[in-house]
Amino acid sequence: MKKIGVITSGGDAPGMNAAIRSVVRSAIYSGCEVVGIHRGFRGLLEDQYSHLSLRSVSGIINRGGTMLKTGRCPEMKTAAGMTQAITALRQLQIDGLVVIGGDGSLAAANALSRRGIPAVCIPGSIDNDIYGTDETIGFDTALNTAVEAIDKIRDTASSHERVFIVEVMGREHGFLALAVGLAAGAEFILVPEVKVSASVLCSELKQEHHRGKTSVIIVFAEGVGSPYELAQKITKGTHQEVRVSSLGYIQRGGTPSARSRILASKFGAHAVNLLLKGKKNRLVVLTRGGITDIPIALAAGREKPIDQTAYTLAERLAT
Ligand code: F6P
Repeated sequence: MKKIGVITSGGDAPGMNAAIRSVVRSAIYSGCEVVGIHRGFRGLLEDQYSHLSLRSVSGIINRGGTMLKTGRCPEMKTAAGMTQAITALRQLQIDGLVVIGGDGSLAAANALSRRGIPAVCIPGSIDNDIYGTDETIGFDTALNTAVEAIDKIRDTASSHERVFIVEVMGREHGFLALAVGLAAGAEFILVPEVKVSASVLCSELKQEHHRGKTSVIIVFAEGVGSPYELAQKITKGTHQEVRVSSLGYIQRGGTPSARSRILASKFGAHAVNLLLKGKKNRLVVLTRGGITDIPIALAAGREKPIDQTAYTLAERLAT
């Protein structure tokens, strides 16, 4: 293992730079060179990469985003694209690849490993939807960003005695919404994994209002549907004032939290150690507080279950 490549792929997440920094410095410490591939896997198809030194990754641990830039590369799902990527890796004499990203990146790393390129994956996504790991890089930062925003929204909700639907990211999953709702003390948390009808919600809102609750926060995972449609149904069903606040892309940026930086640093070092030991096709994970790794094939495309205990707790504490 003389030369390691590192890629960030898919949606960016705060902490990716901390992971890149850890990969680069761990690899160089072990006598390897490091090549950074730019703009996700597209950098392999368009010859966009750079040699990374210890100094290349100075001053980035506290920066959101990714210094390598990222993106999605549908060509990697085609045989031609995969062949072109492998050719580029061989021409660059890259002996092992660290892929930092979400579920799409997992599939690409899996495919490369099956074609002889040693690849390990680091779970990086604010969605925390990767099977096998308790946490992905960026999740804690996005969680804190959203909770801070909801604490602010709660002030105006209280002043105007309104119902606020706060939409958070998470793609088709409710992991971010559930954690945000629990931490923010939301009265309701709507996630794709648990179906709640608008009529039931309106009935419960009326009961809460009757019990004297004059303002309500509903955390709404984007995978549930349209928060604006729900707002119309609540207005019609309860005659209460409803507003929608979609947090959007502020959840994807900002300086990474200490937790995200530490997780990223540990993930990066573990990924390099796997390659140095000749391991490939592995996903670095956090389980029961420890850093370990599992076969990518075990995680790729597998649905991660929502934490029902946390969901029930959030419901109970909200009353
Ligand atoms: O996967 C991370 C994520 O932020 C999702 O939560 C969100 O639905 C999606 O990316 C948005 O994708 P894009 O950045 O391509 O708009």
